[in-house]
Amino acid sequence: MKKIIHLATFAVTAMIFTSCASCASKEIDNTMKDKNDMYKILYYASLAGSSHNSQPWKAEVYPDDSILVFADLSRLLNVVDPKGIELYISVGAFIENLNIAANALGYDTEIIVNDAAINPSHLVASIKLTKNNLAQNIELLKELELRTTLRIPFDTLPIKTKDWEKLVSITPGNINFIPSNSPDGKFIAKKELEAYTIQAYQKEAQDELASWMRFSNKDVNSKRDGITPAGMGIKGIAGFMVRNFMKPEDSKKESFVKSGVDKTQKQVENCGGWIIISTEKDDVSEWINIGRMYERLNIHCSSLNIGFHPMNQIIEVAPIYQEVKNKIAPGREIRFVARIGYVDEYPAPVSKRRAVEDFTVFK
Ligand SMILES: Cc1cc2nc3c(=O)[nH]c(=O)nc-3n(C[C@H](O)[C@H](O)[C@H](O)COP(=O)(O)O)c2cc1C
Repeated sequence: MKKIIHLATFAVTAMIFTSCASCASKEIDNTMKDKNDMYKILYYASLAGSSHNSQPWKAEVYPDDSILVFADLSRLLNVVDPKGIELYISVGAFIENLNIAANALGYDTEIIVNDAAINPSHLVASIKLTKNNLAQNIELLKELELRTTLRIPFDTLPIKTKDWEKLVSITPGNINFIPSNSPDGKFIAKKELEAYTIQAYQKEAQDELASWMRFSNKDVNSKRDGITPAGMGIKGIAGFMVRNFMKPEDSKKESFVKSGVDKTQKQVENCGGWIIISTEKDDVSEWINIGRMYERLNIHCSSLNIGFHPMNQIIEVAPIYQEVKNKIAPGREIRFVARIGYVDEYPAPVSKRRAVEDFTVFK
């Protein structure tokens, strides 16, 4: 058996890095048409990205069409995100999708963000929905379904000025674009690889990552969160081997870790530029805002055929972070970094989501 696992690890590491992201489709839920609007809105909210696909949100829905959104601290990534910054960014992304879906289905929203860090229930936002008389805009829902993280190498062509200006215009005070061929772009690429490598060999970070790895079909379909072979772009025979012969613990093996470093090198060398989100104010409400910006950026990129890949290791590894912050955003905090670049085709999303009932209580 040990031999099979070794062979599997070898085959996978040999192939992961030659295969492109899996093009299997996220199950766009056909059963949704029978659900009420509140259910649909929460389903679309849950398509938001989250660190390690941890989906750290909970919701309560009341008969007057109000929704309370909570942070689920049991899903905190204690090692790489001890302060919960990425957790709140993920909840912010959920709120952004919720807002877009509610508007698309003909609701006005009033969103009040609470200081979730100090209230014991970790209530992040109270949202009141009011039906309006505007026509529904179902197209917006398609955009939520098509948004995805892409980890394939991107084109190195410069990002067109009109495209990056559109992205930065989402929140010009917070979002910066840095071309990959500029001195700062090359600096970020180098530091990303260094940060990834340091973290990839840290035992605690390896253990935490392994606890979010879902390799077998059974795990993928029962847990419906975390990082899956499809999400990592492992398909074909390699995908078969991972799904059937590897355990999450095998992700800590030297060959797997080394392959991740090689893959990251290809990623940082193959992009058109970097998106940096930085902030002066650094608290929960600002992290929620950053999550909303991230989600909008990712959605916009899909519509421009620009691949979008969050790479936050540069923020998670403290000494690297200080160096990058001093050079790129002195006096501010960098809270989100993404690699972007043109892609020939935009593969469909593959990462799973928990069912609405799993994170929502209907009161
Ligand atoms: C705050 C935050 C940090 C993230 N950091 C990384 C990262 O460092 N590397 C990476 O490959 N993906 C990162 N992601 C992307 C998530 O892994 C991704 O959103 C999740 O797996 C769900 O996949 P999807 O975006 O395709 O729906 C991050 C996402 C968020 C919201």
